[in-house]
Parts: sequence; C-alpha cells; structure tokens
Amino acid sequence: MIMNKPKISIAGCGFVGLVSASSFASKGFSVIATTINEKEADLINSGKSPFYEDGLDILLKKAHELKNLKVITNNHDAVLNSDITFISVGTPIKDDKSIDLSYIDNVSEQIGFALKEKEEYHLVVDRSTVVPGTTRNLIGKNIIENSGKEIGKDFGLCMQPEFLAEGKSVEITFNPDRIIIGEYDKKSGDTLENLYHQFYYDYFSKNNCPIRRMTLESAELVKYANNCFLATKISFANEFANLAELIPNVDIQQVMDGIGLDYRINSHFLGAGVGFGGSCFNKDINAILNWGAQKKNNSRILESVLKINDNQAIHIVDIAEELLGDLNKEKISILGLSFKPGTSDMREAPSIKVVNELIKRDVRNIVGYDPKAMEEAKKYLGDSINYVNSIEEAIKDSDCVFILTDWGEFKVLSPEFFIKYMKTPNVIDGRRIYSFNEFTEKLNYRTIGHR
Ligand code: UDX
Repeated sequence: MIMNKPKISIAGCGFVGLVSASSFASKGFSVIATTINEKEADLINSGKSPFYEDGLDILLKKAHELKNLKVITNNHDAVLNSDITFISVGTPIKDDKSIDLSYIDNVSEQIGFALKEKEEYHLVVDRSTVVPGTTRNLIGKNIIENSGKEIGKDFGLCMQPEFLAEGKSVEITFNPDRIIIGEYDKKSGDTLENLYHQFYYDYFSKNNCPIRRMTLESAELVKYANNCFLATKISFANEFANLAELIPNVDIQQVMDGIGLDYRINSHFLGAGVGFGGSCFNKDINAILNWGAQKKNNSRILESVLKINDNQAIHIVDIAEELLGDLNKEKISILGLSFKPGTSDMREAPSIKVVNELIKRDVRNIVGYDPKAMEEAKKYLGDSINYVNSIEEAIKDSDCVFILTDWGEFKVLSPEFFIKYMKTPNVIDGRRIYSFNEFTEKLNYRTIGHR
C-alpha cells in the first residue's frame, strides 16, 4: 500500500523538537518547526543548529538541501499547513519543584485556535514530559475549547514519551529500542503508528523493536518511571559504594559487574561515583514526587534517590578531608565541570554541588577545567572558582585534584603526570576512571566504593 507522507509540524526547537524535525525532514517528510526566537529560526533556516548535538549538523544540512524543513515563529500557520502536530516545548521545574506547564498550556491553546479553521482530521502528539493527566485534561481540553471540534472525530490525540540522552539523540532517534504510543482512541494511535512505519520502514521487524500502545496516562507515567528507575539504579550503586568503603578489598565496580550479569538486573546505570546530573533526572524525579505529594502519596524511594545523590557530592569532599585534613588552605583542582562527557551542559552537574560544599568548608582556592563546558560553567559557578584552559594549568602546584566528569582526555592521564605538576599528588576520582592498583601504588589515590 502506498501512502502519502503526512505533513508534520513541531512546536519547539529544543533537543527533542529539532532532532525530530531534522530527522523527519532528512527522510523526505515536509516539516514546519516553530520557535518563539526569531534569531534561532533564522539560524536553523540557514542549515545550522543553535546547539551542538552529535550528528545533528549532518541531518540539518540534508534537510536544508532537500528544502523540506522550515522554521517559523507562528504555531497557527504551522498547524494549518500540516496533518500532524508534535508538541516538544519545555516543561521546566518551578521554585516549589512542581512542573511548569505554562508552555504546554499556551501552545495547546494556539493549536486549538488554528484547528477551528481546519476542515480535515488532525493529529496532535505530545512529546514533552508531562505529569499524568496533562495530555487529556490540559492539552485535549484546550484544543476542544478553542477549536469547538470533537476529539476522536475531528482531531486525534497521542502522548509519545521520548528517551533521548544528550549526545546520542540522533543515534537513538534512528535506532530506538521501543516506541511507546499513548492514545486517546484507536484512530489516533493508528495514525501515529502509520507515520512511524513510513519513517522506519522495516526497522521494527528487523530489530525486534516493539511498538506498545496504551492509554495517554500510562504513556505519561512510562517516561517518569523510566528516568526514575535509571536514577534509582545509580543511587543504589552509590549506596552500596558507601557500604563497600567500610571494609578493605571490596571494589564496588566488581560488585556491580557481578549483579549486572543477572539478566533481571543488567549492567547499565550501575556506575557508582559522584552522582547523576543533567536536565532530566532531577527535574523528573522532583516533578513526579511533587505530583504524588499533592495527592498525599509520598514516594519514599524517590526521596531517598535524590538524597543519596546529593550526598555523594558531600561524601567526596569528606574523602578529600580524610586524606588531607582541613582543606581551607589548600589549592583544590577540579577536572570536569559538565554533568557528563560529550556535552557542555552544566544543568544539575555534580561539580556545582562539590564547589558549593568546598566553599561551605571555607576553601577559597579552587581551580576548574573542562574541555567543553568552560563558558557554560561561568554562568553556574560565577567567580567562586578560577578558570584555566588546560589540565596542566589546573593541576599545577595543586594539593588535591577531583575528577568529576569522565572525559576521555582525563582517562589517559598517568600517575606520573599528576606527580609532575602537583604540589602534593592527592587524586580523588569521582568517576572511577583510573586503575586502583596503579594509582594507589604511586600516589595518594581515593575513589568512590573502594578502600
Ligand atoms: C537521561 C536519560 O538517559 C534519557 O533517557 C532521558 O531522556 C533524559 O535523561 P541524559 O541526562 O542526557 O539522559 O544523560 P545520561 O547519559 O542518562 O546520564 C545522566 C547522569 O547520570 C550523568 O551525570 C552520568 O554521569 C550519570 N551516571 C550515568 C552515573 O552516575 N552512573 C551511571 O552508571 C550512569
């Protein structure tokens, strides 16, 4: 059966919006994306990305050559000139840690106003992470109220959570492990599933990739459960790492390798260290915690996951103090500021918590270096640390080095390198990137989960 490719509009040009827009466009779909930022629209229309994401530049270039990606600042026109609209706007966290749905509210109102003028069936798909009930009760309701149309008959509604990790968004988009479709009704789900069969061809059968259809609310909760579970695995590894430190000869990595071989557990996200950061884990755990608490249901597991994670930053400073005594007269160096390698993103980065903890303990001489996040780090850390442009400068005459991001260029450093530049070679490895035996033999080396 030959089907025409539906025309697509995407509200929001962040990671998810822009990666999806350029992926669809690169495969010959006609896409209109929207942003409220005119400069951003111009930049993308010239074939360039406003942020770095591995592989995105190639997709954008292809979309630009094919001339089928257009970015505009008007959701109304985007909706009217498409068959399917994806919502990929931000759902940040408010000061009280509840979810901010104002962008979702605005954009769904605008979709409603536009659909008032449209005769044909239209499908609206939410990709933004939203607390359960939002797709039906906010997005659906706004569209009905502002369009006067009937849901299920005039327009369809889906919620499709995304599972993109920064730095791997393009790879994951083209090689998903599953597609989760929350649907208002069968027609909505069928329309979205058909789009993905057109986009992926025989990928699903060839790669044993399931498409799961479910209610809107289940799909909304899949996203939270997914991120919360991954974060729980990390905090679990960190809690056991602290137990491992109570006795010599236990190495937490060996322990986690051991349990990871159980097919019911698997080995991913059991890496103990200075803890998780990033735009999603903290935000999503807080949002779902807050949502549950408002309904008088407090998740004790998730509260602990956050506490254990925050404590890792304090714990690593304790480890340094154990080794050096008072830290306040020492020169402390931090290698790695971004929340993970491969990105300049500083959101919720453990480095911020470690610096705050050091300052709390009156440490004033802190030097930081990161291969990619220097400019971004200044926005978060201001003048609380000194910034330098190389590893050598960062560790020169230093009393103690903290490794807080597992960048490749730190992994290759030898004990001799630290000995050569540092005043006293004390190395605290928050990402467990060095050989324990080699480093403990040659210098003062401490890490998480191995005494
Ligand atoms: C995450 C999820 O992986 C993704 O599916 C979701 O859509 C958004 O959140 P991201 O924040 O980009 O993606 O980064 P990820 O690679 O998952 O790492 C998150 C944090 O956990 C990093 O700070 C990383 O250093 C830390 N981490 C990861 C550990 O401390 N130990 C591990 O074993 C794995």
